[in-house]
Amino acid sequence: MNLSKRLFPYLTILTFLAACSPQPATDLASTAFIPKPNTVVSDDGAFKLSSSTVVYYNTNELEAEATYLAGKLGEVSGMDISTRPQETLMSEGIYLETDEDMESEAYAMVIGKKLITITGGSPAGCFYGAQTLLQALPVKAGEGERLLIPKGEVLDKPEYAYRGAMLDVARHFFEVADVKRFIDFLAAYKMNALHLHLSDDQGWRIEIKSWPKLTETGGSKEVGGTDGGFFTQEDYKDIVAYAAERHITIVPEIDMPGHTNAALASYAELNCDGKAPELYTGIEVGFSTLCTDKEVTYEFVDDVVGEVAALTPGPWFHIGGDESHVTEHDDYVYFVNRVQDIVTRHGKKVIGWDEIANAKLVDGSTVQFWADIENTVMGLQQGAQVLMSPAARAYMDMKYDSTTTPGLDWAGYIEVGHGYDWDPATYVDGIDRDNILGIEAPLWTETITNMEELEYMVFPRLPGYAEIGWTAPGNRSWKDYKNRLAMHGQRLKDKNINFYKSPEIPWKEN
Ligand code: ACM
Repeated sequence: MNLSKRLFPYLTILTFLAACSPQPATDLASTAFIPKPNTVVSDDGAFKLSSSTVVYYNTNELEAEATYLAGKLGEVSGMDISTRPQETLMSEGIYLETDEDMESEAYAMVIGKKLITITGGSPAGCFYGAQTLLQALPVKAGEGERLLIPKGEVLDKPEYAYRGAMLDVARHFFEVADVKRFIDFLAAYKMNALHLHLSDDQGWRIEIKSWPKLTETGGSKEVGGTDGGFFTQEDYKDIVAYAAERHITIVPEIDMPGHTNAALASYAELNCDGKAPELYTGIEVGFSTLCTDKEVTYEFVDDVVGEVAALTPGPWFHIGGDESHVTEHDDYVYFVNRVQDIVTRHGKKVIGWDEIANAKLVDGSTVQFWADIENTVMGLQQGAQVLMSPAARAYMDMKYDSTTTPGLDWAGYIEVGHGYDWDPATYVDGIDRDNILGIEAPLWTETITNMEELEYMVFPRLPGYAEIGWTAPGNRSWKDYKNRLAMHGQRLKDKNINFYKSPEIPWKEN
């Protein structure tokens, strides 16, 4: 019998095993990390995860990160991975520590044969290092699979301070569990902000104790006339805490003075004619406005901002301000000026859609560029920072192509490459790197009714927006990115995430 015949049964078994489990990268530098780290250096050999691996942490402030990582490693391996506080460095295991001399979101990871150290500038840095480590492993190991992490070093830090997504829970309501799943999507790619669009013409989705009809009436329906829903204040606190454990800041938005039909239908006195309109379940925009010259409007805004701000640990409050087409210009400016003062009084920094730059912006405010360059530049000239969300590139509710359902197309089609291949710092003349707080990819939900549809619009574009926010522009290219994204198809499948199989990506799935 010749050698190849004798080896045949073994080769068949090996081929079968390889086909059953996602291929581990053979060296660290060729691992398909998203977002791409600053530097990755490979070394020969590998760390082997086993049931005796312990995740150590050198200060109590890292206990949550250690617990998170051990939990995820447990999901990957099916083993029970324990955690332990440990001030001095160990010779084996996984060791989390902080180093105050590093930038707060930066981390360094050294993977040796017996020991992995993750050193973060803060707990957030360690959390991001943990996410990188998890991407060097399969989502779920196959039966009997050896869990090897290639040796090497990663040095990494984000390009932008704000790396976010927005979820519109007003047009269609999404439950707490759905929002948490969405938060997990962001966390896996090192994003750190979730903007919740909590009110619009079709629904008011956050309990305001001093104005209960906002949710009783204004939260009762959604687009299409189906039953709506809302977050109680306890629900919202639960979301905020879940996000915080993943180093994600919640940015609440109450959109005003337009996009307010749900509030106007709930309280007649907020209307200039004193009459409450019907609830609205269509998808037109620009027809509603709070009455800007009634004092009760400002009492209302003060109560709403006060209650939501008190539940929100993050620094920002988003006041919307977009598409107020039936508010006179002077009334709009007067309203936004007064609302900014209210937000500031409640201890928050103002963010608004780019139209708010027509008002006199308060110090420390941020203009979210979505449509109008002139507005945005006007904001810059007033000293505001810019959050980049150009609809033609970053709106995740835009269709991929003409055949996509659900989705809209008013800002054009956004295939995966078109969504990825732009640089916030050069996208608009006059908006430079120094002016930019970060990037946010919004998901409006006029046409998106459930998680399956949501995931299909979000994936696989979201990892690209995460990479734009994290990776230095000189370190990323579409050609390289699409090959890395190809390796994430199996990861998305293993996480039961519904995604668009874009023909632009050379998917590598088992
Ligand atoms: C927006 O898309 N109306 C901000």
